[in-house]
This record gives sequence, structure tokens and C-alpha cells, in this order.
Amino acid sequence: MVNVGILGAGRIGKVHALSLKKIAGVNVKSVADPYLDEEWAISQGIENRYKDVEEILNDESIDVVYICTPTDSHADLIIKASQKGKAIFCEKPVDLDIERILKVQEILKENNTLFQIGFNRRFDKNFKKISQLVKNDTLGDLLSLKVVSRDPSAPPRSYVESSGGLFLDMTIHDFDMVRFLSHQNITEITAKGASLITDYGDIDIDTAMLTMTLEDGSFAMIENCRATTYGYDQRVEVFGTKANVNCKNVFDNSVEITNNEGTSSDKPMYFFLERYEDAYYQESVEFVNSINNSEKVSVGIEDALESALMAVAAKKSLEENRSVTINEIREEFNIKVK
Ligand SMILES: NC(=O)c1ccc[n+]([C@@H]2O[C@H](COP(=O)([O-])OP(=O)(O)OC[C@H]3O[C@@H](n4cnc5c(N)ncnc54)[C@H](O)[C@@H]3O)[C@@H](O)[C@H]2O)c1
Repeated sequence: MVNVGILGAGRIGKVHALSLKKIAGVNVKSVADPYLDEEWAISQGIENRYKDVEEILNDESIDVVYICTPTDSHADLIIKASQKGKAIFCEKPVDLDIERILKVQEILKENNTLFQIGFNRRFDKNFKKISQLVKNDTLGDLLSLKVVSRDPSAPPRSYVESSGGLFLDMTIHDFDMVRFLSHQNITEITAKGASLITDYGDIDIDTAMLTMTLEDGSFAMIENCRATTYGYDQRVEVFGTKANVNCKNVFDNSVEITNNEGTSSDKPMYFFLERYEDAYYQESVEFVNSINNSEKVSVGIEDALESALMAVAAKKSLEENRSVTINEIREEFNIKVK
């Protein structure tokens, strides 16, 4: 039996607890949150319910922790859990600061900790299929790749203030998608962004357009916006010398209504909880398999670092109104250039 402790049971902590409960051989034994929703925790049959994460970190019967607390606490909790010998699943991003991500990477290596990062979109069956098509050369040589990622509604100012900004908070998933779908790192990035729809333009942008060059000289593009009028917009297109693949939005149903005014159908699923429900489940299935078979995870700290480097490069590109290479950022943090 794999005993799991959930650290932070807000929106995403609850999703992971639900997924884990569906996996045979897993016991969601404990949860810790200073503002714990006791009623929810009891309804889930979670035996130990705490306010303080230390209770879980110090419990030797806990094999695995799921870090689902706000971003600024991730690095400290990873380090503590690693030193206590736990396997760790941590939500994205690891941290907003590259130095701290490097420190986390060092500690994980030192303690030989099994660590998976919450890039859930890699476990979406459509994106997985596209990634495989690129890998097995069905598309031929890659020419260009496009990711459209728009949230249904903008978060409040208070969230944005501590989020690290659009690139580290939201685009980080899309940066990982570019790497996952292309099987390459990017070499250079140009970012444009503006505050077009929210009233917190003094602290962050809400709309962005990013172009990137991949290692083989092909191109990628990401389009982001914090809000739409029609739900969660998550689309991908990959164009190669042999074929083009296109992944559309996911809908609750595929009913089309036609009348004398035209044809209409459902809106895209509302947000990440609905759109990626299965992906969240699959990422935990894979993580638990890695634990049970002592196998390497498919998405770990190196992927978390590479996406964070892309986010830092994008931020610099926007601030300095120029293209920025990833090697420039690597050099800044004394990371071996590629
Ligand atoms: N992969 C994804 O799709 C995805 C989606 C949403 C959020 N996230 C990430 O997950 C993290 C949490 O986001 P959320 O939307 O669930 O936030 P949330 O605010 O809904 O939940 C965070 C919870 O952590 C608790 N908490 C705060 N400090 C704590 C501490 N020291 N110890 C224990 N619990 C503590 C809070 O009380 C809250 O219940 C963020 O880093 C976010 O970037 C990832």
C-alpha cells in the first residue's frame, strides 16, 4: 500500500486526492491545510486531518507527498520532504526563482528522491497522441507548432500579485507543451504582451504572443489570454513536411443544432478541472507506477527547470523588447549551455 499525504487541499489538492482514491493500492492517509475543509476531508474518508504540514512530513508511514500549496511554498516543502525520504509530486511551478529551482534539483539528486512535476497536459490523451506522431515521424520534419491557451476568466489581482506573472504562472504549461510535442528544447524566444482586458496592467500583462526557434531551426508559437467569453481555449497544431495535426477544443457533447438562424453547438469545457480531469488521473497513475516499480518518472525536475528558463527568457524579451536566447539565461545562472 502506498500511503499519501496531501499538502494543501485547495482547488488542485482536492483534484489529486480524488484521482488518487481511484487508484488501487493507494491510501490517501493524511491531509494538511491551515484552512482545511474538514467536511470535504471527512467525506473523502481521509484518516488524518491536520492544520500543519509538519505532521505529515514527520510521519514515517507516509511514503509520498503531493505538494499542492501556493507556489511560494513549493521549494521549501520539496526540500523538507526530500530530506525525510518521501517520494514527491509537486504542482507547477517549482519556484519563481531559477536559483531556488537549481537548489531543489541539487537536493533531489543528493537524496535520490523520486520527483514528478504537475505538467498534467502531457497526460492528456490528445496531446500524448500528437507527441507520439511527431516522435514516430508521421509528420516528417517539423516546420511549425502552435499552442493556443486561453483561460475562461482572469484571476483576481491578489492572485496575480504572487503568481510570478503570466509567463511563470500560466504560459509555463504551454512552454512544456512546446517541448513535449516537439521533443526539442527551444533556443530563442521573442515575447510580446500587453494588458488589454484586466485592470491590473500595472503589475502584469494579460495577453501575450510568443514566437520561438527550436533546436532544429523550426518554429513554435504560443498565444495566451487570461480570459475568453466562451470557456477554456486549448488548441494545438503541428505542421510537418508530411502532415499537419490539429487538436481542437474538447466539448461536453457534440450535438449540433441547426435552425433558420444557422448552426450552433456547445461551448468548450469551462476550465482546467473539467478539461483535464482524466489527465490529472493519468498523471497520478503514472507516478504511482513509477513508485511501485522504482522507475524514472516521465516528467521531472529537468522539465520544470527548462520551462522556467523559457519563462525567464520570455520575461526578459518583453522587458527589453528583443529576442533572448535560452543560453543567455543559462549563462546568467551558471548552467551549462546547450
Ligand atoms: N497543474 C495545474 O493544472 C494546476 C491548476 C491549478 C493550480 N496549480 C498550482 O497548484 C498550486 C495551488 O493552486 P490552487 O489553485 O489549488 O490554490 P488554492 O488557493 O485553491 O489552494 C491552496 C491551498 O493551500 C493551502 N495552504 C496555504 N499554505 C499552506 C501551507 N503552508 N501548508 C498547507 N497548506 C497550505 C491553502 O489554505 C489552500 O487551501 C499553485 O502552485 C498552482 O500554480 C496547478
